[in-house]
Amino acid sequence: MDFNIAVIPGDGIGPEIIREARKVLDAVGAKYGHSFSYTEVLMGGVSIDATGVPLTDEALQTAKNSDSVLLGAVGGDVGKTSWYDLAPNLRPEAGLLAIRKGLNLFANIRPAILFNELKSACPLREDIIGDGFDFVVMRELTGGLYFGDRCTREVDGLRTATDTLVYNENEIARIARKAFEIARKRRKKVCSVDKANVLDSSRLWRQVTKEVAEEYPDVELTDMLVDNCAMQIVKDPRQFDVILTENMFGDILSDEASMVTGSIGMLASASLGESKLGLYEPSHGSAPDIAGQNKANPIATILSAAMMLRYSFELDKEADIVEAAVKEVLKKGYRTIDIMSPDKSLVGCDRMGDLIADEI
Ligand code: IPM
Ligand code: MG
Repeated sequence: MDFNIAVIPGDGIGPEIIREARKVLDAVGAKYGHSFSYTEVLMGGVSIDATGVPLTDEALQTAKNSDSVLLGAVGGDVGKTSWYDLAPNLRPEAGLLAIRKGLNLFANIRPAILFNELKSACPLREDIIGDGFDFVVMRELTGGLYFGDRCTREVDGLRTATDTLVYNENEIARIARKAFEIARKRRKKVCSVDKANVLDSSRLWRQVTKEVAEEYPDVELTDMLVDNCAMQIVKDPRQFDVILTENMFGDILSDEASMVTGSIGMLASASLGESKLGLYEPSHGSAPDIAGQNKANPIATILSAAMMLRYSFELDKEADIVEAAVKEVLKKGYRTIDIMSPDKSLVGCDRMGDLIADEI
């Protein structure tokens, strides 16, 4: 089959990790008779430098016309590049928010998996890790505080800033359905996370989630307050299967979840909407401090490409093969610097990509 992928290398280590993911996709294509064609799209700081804005209408249109989007990372050192002297809606990150909204990608899936080979990198105690954990954070991505009205003005002589957190029942129901669907393919547990003891938006979230749960009697639904959830992720991560939560809580909890695995360089993510078109990106950022040094870990991006094969192209077998290739290369002892440990073989970004592509 032929697939047309919009690729957004972006900033920092973005171009390096995207190059390796393409290598792996091409290896999959050659072996299984698919053809992947790539259209490069500018977003983030590189787009600002070239066009003055972080995402042009044409770039968004190219992404819309593709079968799927593969993204490296956007942004740079806050305070060190002139990108951050610009108005907030013209900075690199605004491109990311615009493409999420523009493609209506309301469901963000961020897996937190403890890879067996990397157990020593996990910062949690051994009795907490047990035989490992594997959960996903399902984060609402196009609503809430990120997209509510905001302003800064003077009220009674004081500078006053307002951000608004809005959700309607449809926005809650559609993300809840995605969470239940994903849970069905896993261990059939959804933990909905909110702040219903304080926020109206959370009380509605809780109510609508319960209503949607009635459509999925085979999946267990529990609720948890977000502060408790932050604690439970480090206290007993094995209790979770699918964590369902709103945009801002999901932003924070997904960083925490990735950190407890000890290997943020390994974690993929997918942003999905109602159609097959998705946006796939590593969970980590653009790491400007190591950009261009061939030190980045391309595995999160390669695993994001595997998620693309699975969720957008329905190529489950090919996705399995990519994930198995990553595990095999780790088993053989190859490591990039971020996951290096004594007695392993240190490799750069491009070599890691070669090894995984060869394994396919
Ligand atoms: C993320 C990032 C973004 C977000 C930033 C860069 C706007 O932190 O993808 O989690 O907050 O969504
Ligand atoms: Mg974040």
